[in-house]
Amino acid sequence: MYVLVTGGIGYIGSHIVLELMKLDIKVIIIDNLSNSSIKVLDRIIIISNKIPLFFNIDINDENKLDWLFLNYKISTVIHLAGFKSVGDSVKNPINYYHNNIGGTITLLTVMKKYNVYDIIFSSSATVYGVTKLMPISEKCALNPINPYGKTKLYIENLLLDIFKSNIQWNVIILRYFNPVGAHKSGLIGDNPSLIPNNLMPYITQVAVKKLEKLFIYGKDYNTKDGTGIRDYIHVVDLAVGHVKALFYMQNKHICEIFNLGTGIGYSVLELVKTFEAVSGVKINFTFVDRRAGDLDIIYADSSLAREKLEFHPQFNLDDMCTDSWIFQKNNPDGYL
Ligand SMILES: NC(=O)c1ccc[n+]([C@@H]2O[C@H](COP(=O)([O-])OP(=O)(O)OC[C@H]3O[C@@H](n4cnc5c(N)ncnc54)[C@H](O)[C@@H]3O)[C@@H](O)[C@H]2O)c1
Repeated sequence: MYVLVTGGIGYIGSHIVLELMKLDIKVIIIDNLSNSSIKVLDRIIIISNKIPLFFNIDINDENKLDWLFLNYKISTVIHLAGFKSVGDSVKNPINYYHNNIGGTITLLTVMKKYNVYDIIFSSSATVYGVTKLMPISEKCALNPINPYGKTKLYIENLLLDIFKSNIQWNVIILRYFNPVGAHKSGLIGDNPSLIPNNLMPYITQVAVKKLEKLFIYGKDYNTKDGTGIRDYIHVVDLAVGHVKALFYMQNKHICEIFNLGTGIGYSVLELVKTFEAVSGVKINFTFVDRRAGDLDIIYADSSLAREKLEFHPQFNLDDMCTDSWIFQKNNPDGYL
């Protein structure tokens, strides 16, 4: 039996694939390479010394998915494939609704046809939207404020509904906070194709002089140094969280939701200073106005994942910055 990882060539998916293969779990990756490079597959092979099955399949392509499920015995789907840029989703909402929701509906349709009912879904803390209740627990109100976050919430609701319709479904929804860092090998990591939306790849690209300077949005937040505080989690810890979820769901029929964060908040300036300390590179930055909708502090209540999944993140801020830096330094122009 195989575990199918959709979007497994992407940033988070590739790290999950490695954690699964470390445990000799048989993996099939599908990815349409719309936001990733096939070179990642070579690097997965180099790191693991194993060859996972890979198919260039779009999750919207029902015929190809049908072929895949017909020919390979799949036990569980870890579903990451989708678009993820908040800004892009505001400009191109139809693409986001089509790819994220439409693709998931096609995937679930084929899973049902072949009696594959176990799914772990990549959701996001974005589903919480604007909330002042910190830390954010899974019970907090859901109110995403952009199309990307709304697609995640629609999919969560779809999964809750299919579970109610047929108890055979076995669903885990993981709400990620802010994944950063890279594999220790320095061979795979976050490699945005355009100007990064997230803080860490922005910092690393300033460090290698691909970008001129970092813009820090707001310096008068109600925090110790005036910059926003977020919950960053090392991508390898996040990947391990999926393996824990996979073991937890075995032989169950559940539908459960977990935050995956560290439960610790770091400010933008703390991240910049830590990055400078571990890399020895000075980051050129300037303060600009706050962005609408940004909150002072966001961090996870991660107690549920700790208790039920035995999820205990291992990596600290130094590790996150060091590993991001090594990846960027080794790959200044991405996967060329
Ligand atoms: N990175 C983050 O900050 C973050 C935070 C919360 C949630 N997530 C979610 O985690 C998942 C993975 O994120 P990531 O950072 O690895 O993104 P990523 O873009 O690096 O990976 C997603 C992968 O899915 C592929 N893909 C997209 N549409 C597809 C389709 N229709 N068919 C097949 N493949 C398709 C892309 O080519 C890419 O390789 C996404 O669902 C994202 O929304 C990410």
